[in-house]
Amino acid sequence: MKTPLNDFLEKYIKEEKIRFHMPGHKGRAFIGAEKYDITEIEGADVLYNADGILRDSMENAAQLFGTRKTFYSTEGSSLSIRAMIYLLKLYAMNEGIKPKIAAFRNAHKTFVTACALTGMETEWLYGREPQGITCCNISAEEVKNYLDGADELPVALYVTSPDYLGNMADIKGLSEVCEEKGIILAVDNAHGAYLNFLPENLHPIYLGAHICCDSAHKTLPVITGGAYMHISYKAPDIFAEKGEYALSLFASTSPSYLILRSLDKANGLLSADYSEGIAGFAEKVQKLKKELALRGYCFIGDEPLKLTLDSKKYGYTGTEISEYLYINNIVCEFSDRDYTVMMLTDSNSDEELCRLFKVLWALPKKEKLTERPPVIIPSERVIPLTDCIYLPTEKISIEKAVGRICGSINISCPPAVPVVVAGERISEAQAELLKYYGEKEVCVIA
Ligand SMILES: Cc1ncc(COP(=O)(O)O)c(C=O)c1O
Repeated sequence: MKTPLNDFLEKYIKEEKIRFHMPGHKGRAFIGAEKYDITEIEGADVLYNADGILRDSMENAAQLFGTRKTFYSTEGSSLSIRAMIYLLKLYAMNEGIKPKIAAFRNAHKTFVTACALTGMETEWLYGREPQGITCCNISAEEVKNYLDGADELPVALYVTSPDYLGNMADIKGLSEVCEEKGIILAVDNAHGAYLNFLPENLHPIYLGAHICCDSAHKTLPVITGGAYMHISYKAPDIFAEKGEYALSLFASTSPSYLILRSLDKANGLLSADYSEGIAGFAEKVQKLKKELALRGYCFIGDEPLKLTLDSKKYGYTGTEISEYLYINNIVCEFSDRDYTVMMLTDSNSDEELCRLFKVLWALPKKEKLTERPPVIIPSERVIPLTDCIYLPTEKISIEKAVGRICGSINISCPPAVPVVVAGERISEAQAELLKYYGEKEVCVIA
C-alpha cells in the first residue's frame, strides 16, 4: 500500500526547503523529530478539507478497515468521540428523533463532555456482576428488553468495547438488535484498533457497528494522539458527508504532521504482514496467561492483547502488583485496588514477555483478599448535563458532598469513567465509591 504523506515528507526533507512557515522550529532539531513536523503547507493537504495526499492516505486506511470512510484524528479518540456525538445529534435532528443516547455506564469521560457540549441527552444502562466501574456487562438480549420497553427509542446505543480491563461486548448481537430497532450502534473502540487484523476479525465495524473510534496510538505502532473515526457502509449518508465537518468543529487547525505521518506509515505496515505477526503474538500472550495461571494468577477480560490480573485473588491489590513490577523495571498501563492492567503488542519482544513471566512467577502467592470491587450506583439527575458546564462550582470534601449536586463534568476515577456525572445528586454510596477510588474532594454546584 502507498504511503503518500510519508513520501511527501521524505521528499520535502531531502529537498532542504527553507521553511518560512509554521512551526517555529523550522525543522531544526531540538528534541529530534522537528524535520518531519510541518503544517498544512502547499502540497501537504488540509486535514479536514482533504483532497490530496491526506485524502489518499485516509482512503487507504478506509480500505484496510473495510469502512465507507475513515478519518484521521491527531487528538486521540477524544476528538473522534466528540465528532461522533455531534453526528448523532445532527442525524437525530434531521430525522426528527429525540437526541438521546442509551449508553453503557462505563463510558469514558470524553463521552460525557461530548454530550454536555452538544446538548445530547443520555440514558445510562447498568451492567450485571460488575468488576468495578470500568466494566459494564450487558447482553444483546438485555438491550433488546430495554428497547422493547422504552417509551421512545434513543437515536443510538453507545457501547465501550473493549473496556479498560479488556472485556468485550457482544457487538454482533448488539448490532442485530440495533438493526431490528432501527437505531445507530456507536462504539468506543479506543482500545481495539488492532482487532481488525486478528485472524478472526473482531473490529466493531466488521461486526456491525455504524460508527466507531479507534485510538491507533493505544494498540498500533502509531505515536500518541493518532486515532481514527470510522464510518461503516451501512451508516446514514450524513455520517460520511459530514464526518470531516464534525471533526473540524472540535479540532485544532494545526494538526500534527508527526502524528499524521505515523498514521500514514502505519497503513503500509498494516497492509503488509502485520496480521500474521499479530496472530502469532496473540498466541504468545495466551500461552503466557496459561503458564501464569499454573502459578495461581487469575485474569479477567477476553481481549487478546490485554493482560488484566485479578490481583486480589493472588493476595495483593492491583497497585501492589504494579509497584512490584515497577521496581523490577516493568511499567503497567494501569492499576487500582482490584486490577493490574498491562497492554501488550507485537512491538514487545520475546525477551520482554519472558522477563514479565519470570518476575510475576517470582512473586509469592498469598491468601486471597476478599474485598471485591464496588458496584456503580445509578443516581438521580437534577440538572441537565449541558447546564452544568456553565454553572459555578465549589470544591468540597467528599464527606460534605453527600446530597449535593455534582458539578464536575470531568470526575474521572481511574481510569476516566465518571463515578457520578455532573448534574446528578451525590448519594452516600457514591461518596463511598469516590473514596474507594482515592478521591478526597469533589466539585459540586455552588
Ligand atoms: C475507553 C476509552 N475511550 C476513549 C479514550 C480517549 O482516547 P484518547 O486518549 O485517544 O483521546 C480512552 C483513553 O484512555 C479510553 O480508555
